[in-house]
This record gives sequence, structure tokens and C-alpha cells, in this order.
Amino acid sequence: MIRNPGLIALASLALILVSGCKGGSSGSTFPSEEQQATNDLRNVVAGESLSGDPAAGRSLPDISDPLAQLGMKLFFSRGLGGDLDSSCVTCHHPALGGGDGMSLSIGVGSMDPELLGPGRHHSNAAPGFDGGPTVPRNAPTTFNVALWDRALFHDGRVESLGATPGSNGDDGQGIRTPDTAFGVADAEAGPNLASAQARFPVTSGEEMRGFTYAAGETNAVLRQFLEERIGDYGGGIGELVINDWLFEFQQAFGQPAGAPEDLITFENIVLAIAEYERSQTFVETPWKRFVQGDDSAIGLDAKKGALLFFRSIEDGGADCASCHTGDFFTDEEFHVVAVPQIGRGKGNGPEGNDDFGRMRETGDVDDLYAFRTPTLLNVEVTGPFGHSGAYTTLEGIVRHHLDPVATVAEYDFDQLDPSIQAFDMMTNTMLALDQLQANRDAGRPSLQDVDLSDEQVEQLIEFLRSLTDPCVKDRDCLSRWIPNAGTTNPDAVRLNAYDRYGHPF
Ligand code: HEC
Ligand code: HEC
Repeated sequence: MIRNPGLIALASLALILVSGCKGGSSGSTFPSEEQQATNDLRNVVAGESLSGDPAAGRSLPDISDPLAQLGMKLFFSRGLGGDLDSSCVTCHHPALGGGDGMSLSIGVGSMDPELLGPGRHHSNAAPGFDGGPTVPRNAPTTFNVALWDRALFHDGRVESLGATPGSNGDDGQGIRTPDTAFGVADAEAGPNLASAQARFPVTSGEEMRGFTYAAGETNAVLRQFLEERIGDYGGGIGELVINDWLFEFQQAFGQPAGAPEDLITFENIVLAIAEYERSQTFVETPWKRFVQGDDSAIGLDAKKGALLFFRSIEDGGADCASCHTGDFFTDEEFHVVAVPQIGRGKGNGPEGNDDFGRMRETGDVDDLYAFRTPTLLNVEVTGPFGHSGAYTTLEGIVRHHLDPVATVAEYDFDQLDPSIQAFDMMTNTMLALDQLQANRDAGRPSLQDVDLSDEQVEQLIEFLRSLTDPCVKDRDCLSRWIPNAGTTNPDAVRLNAYDRYGHPF
């Protein structure tokens, strides 16, 4: 907990008040500062109709389920990477907050495929090398992916057309993906948003496919190559020197005599991966305990931070909950926040290094530079922050929200890996700031500037830290989601991750 002399002074004052009440003969019921904050916060929680449990009412897999176990092995296998060098876990490791701890990811062609997190660099001998990270956006966490009901990806290009609360897209109304036009359901999306999403990393050159593998082939053909490789049938026979996947699929799907062509389909591959991801539900936070009645689950600073978070600006708050709504801390809508645009971008703008965000999908100019509101659960471990990962600290991203123009003007480039392309950051980000101002001028609900003291910023951050499930900071607790020496390794190309100091994750 961060303390400063002012807070200590306040805390002692509160103590004096408390003891004053107890010992006093006046019979005063003047509440302590802590009691006051608790009472105020209880009113706020009631007003927001929070339950504290964003997973309530959902049926979610357990990591011990056979399908989730199979999914874990696939998630960690480089067998799904075109050139056998990149896997899902390359950018979504449980010990790295379900992401990769980097502003912008590096998938294929890295100097060392098993070195994850800071220190990972693209090899200058590999295809696609341009000096910086080849992936244009920050890798969001896979934690709690089962709690999204509307959209995955920063621009929502995997989107449930029904968006039924509690459904994770599994409501029979279809899921749109990049394989279909905006608003049109993808018949192959599978049951939920996680299965629909998992069809795409393998198609992305810089994430998993490689710059030359199956060049020129459609997504459908590419996926066929991969299912045949994993299944050891058709054109994929012998591609994996060791291949025990059939036994694994037979066990997990409960079909001991199933044929590879029937069992090892891309549909089943993503089904298993999705169950693994959907088992990563980490919601046992101090905040949940507070909401469910334990007054002492969070400290006074976090309580004051929560009040700032939920209260409107007119009420002296910072109005964060107008977008970071509800128990999952997101409205699943798209807003312009103008986080600095760094990296190679999505091919937009005159230099091709800008990212138009949601407008890329809807074609609607009102969506220019809008990105999906992220959840804030476990945000303490899911940095760097924003769609581009431009802020590496919670303080940075929080201060940005409070005054984007001033914060961008003072942006500290030293927080970035020096290889990250940031030459046009100011030009591109100014355009996003202009869009934010235009939205404000047009009276559209927008991020507003908020004037907070340094102490209040600390309190907000302390509140955000109360949204961490302790499991995500505990390697022993996370070990159920990470293969160990005793876990079967069906193709012997599992990614055994370690950090830049050589320590295994
Ligand atoms: C090279 C890094 C990389 C690899 C490898 C990778 N991802 Fe990602 N992942 C990302 C990035 C970057 C995004 C965000 C992209 C965007 O929004 O445009 C993302 C987004 C996601 C999301 C959406 C999360 C959300 O909150 O919207 C999920 C789920 C996910 N990836 C799962 C997977 C799975 C499953 C695999 C393997 C099949 C995989 N990823 C492989 C980098 C990677
Ligand atoms: C107008 C809607 C809106 C409001 C109000 C808002 N946010 Fe955000 N917030 C967003 C969006 C959108 C993003 C993602 C921006 C991006 O991807 O570039 C974001 C990102 C964040 C992140 C980074 C999360 C991550 O995983 O990258 C944090 C932390 C955050 N907001 C905290 C706050 C706090 C604290 C407040 C109140 C001071 C607040 N937000 C108010 C919409 C909002």
C-alpha cells in the first residue's frame, strides 16, 4: 500500500476520532472516516446493483475437465504455428497475466521462440523484420474471456450478434468474425466468442502463421493444413515427427475409437482451446468480498478510490464506471480515449501506421479511433495498457484518462522498448485527440477531463489493485493452467517458456 505523510496524518486523525467516540461521554455517533467511506461505498454498490460476482449464473469449465486439459496442450503447442515457432502461449502466458507483458507482441520469427516477455525481439534474419514488433496491437489477457458477452478484440471484430447477457456469445443468434462481413454470422464460429476468436491467430502472419507458410492460401485451406498436421492425416502426414494427438483427442472427446479425420478437426481444436481459456476465470478479488459484505476486505484508500471510480464528476468523482460498468467493469462498448498510437499500426492513415479502431469494422466515421472498453479485473497484472500498450504503468493510463491532451503532450517515450516504432506517435495521436474533442463538441457521451489530486490518483490505483484475484500473482496457484513435466507432450513441440534471465515461468 502506498502511503504518504498526509495519509498517515489522516489515518491518525481517524484513530483519534474513533477513540474519541469510544471514550467520550458525549454519546456522539460521529462516524470515523473509515466508517463514513464504507457507508458511502455501500450506498454506491447498492445504487449500481453490483453483485460482486461477474461469473454468477454462467456454467464454466474447470481446468481439470478433459477438454480444457486438451486445450491447454494445444494452447502451448508450436504445432499450430505455421513454422512451428509460435503458439498461443507466446502472447498469452498465465504467469504474464494472460498476456505477454509487452506493449506490442512478437510472435513468429523471434530470436528465441521460448523467451517470453520483455527482452523478446524479432530476429533481423527472419522474414518480416522491420526493426520493431510485427504485431500492431497489445495482447489482451485471456483471463476471464468467458465473461465477455458482446465482443472480442480491441475493435470487436469477433462479435456476438445477440450479445445476450451471461451468454459469452452462446445464444443461438450467431457470431460475426473476420471471415464474414460486418453483421453477418460466421457459420463456423463454434459455440462461443472464445471458440470463434481462436480460429484467427493461426491465420495471422505475424502472430502464428509465419510470413511464408501456406502463402496465398485462404483461411479455410490454411486451417485444413493445420488440422491435417495435428491429426497426422491427408497432406499433413509425418509433419510432426512425434504425434500422439489422436490418443489425446480420443480421451478428451470420450471417443476411444474415433478416427483422426473425424476427431482432429479445426472445429474440435478451437473447441478445446476455448474450454481451456474459459476455465481461466479469476474473479475472487478483495473487491468481490467487499461487495458481498466484508467491510474489511479492502482498505480505506481503496474505498476512497472506489468512491472516485463510481461517482459522477458533479458528485466529485471521476465517472470511471460510466464505461467500466458493472461487475465485469466494462460496458463492452467502443469509446475514443486517444491512447498514444505507437507501433506499426493497422495500415490506416497517410503513413499506414495509424489504427482507426472500431471504424475499421463498422465503416462508421462516428467510430473513428474508438476501442473496446477493457475489463479492469486483474488489471494490476495485465499491463502494458491500452490497445497499443503505450502505457506501462497504471498511473500512466489513469492519468491519461484524466487529461488526455496534457498527458499525451508529456508522454514519456522511455517507457517503451527502444525498438518500437513511435516516429509518428504525435501526429497520429493528435488526430485521435481531435476526434475526442469533436465527439465532446457534438454532445456524444465521451471521456471528460477530471481534476484530481495526486492523493486521489493513488486512491484510484489502490482501488484498481483491489480488483486482483490473488491467484494471478501466485505461480503455485497458476500451475494448474501451465503444463509441467508430468503433463503429456503429444508432439514434443510444446513451448517451454522462460524469461530474459533464463528463469522458467
Ligand atoms: C503474437 C502474439 C499472439 C499470439 C501468438 C496469439 N495472440 Fe491472441 N491476441 C494477440 C493480440 C495482439 C490480440 C489483440 C488483437 C486485436 O485486438 O486486434 C489478441 C487477442 C486475443 C483474444 C481476445 C481477448 C479480448 O479480450 O478481446 C483472445 C481470446 C486470444 N487472443 C486468444 C489467442 C489464442 C487462442 C491464440 C492461439 C490460437 C492466440 N491468441 C495467439 C496476440 C497474440
Ligand atoms: C468514455 C469511456 C471511459 C471512461 C469514462 C473511462 N475509461 Fe478507462 N478505458 C476506456 C477505453 C475505451 C479503454 C481502452 C483504450 C484503448 O484500448 O486504447 C480504457 C482503458 C483503461 C485502462 C487500461 C486497461 C487495459 O487493460 O489496457 C484502465 C486501467 C482504465 N481504463 C481505467 C479507467 C479509470 C480509472 C477511469 C476513471 C478515471 C476510466 N478508465 C474511465 C474507456 C473509458
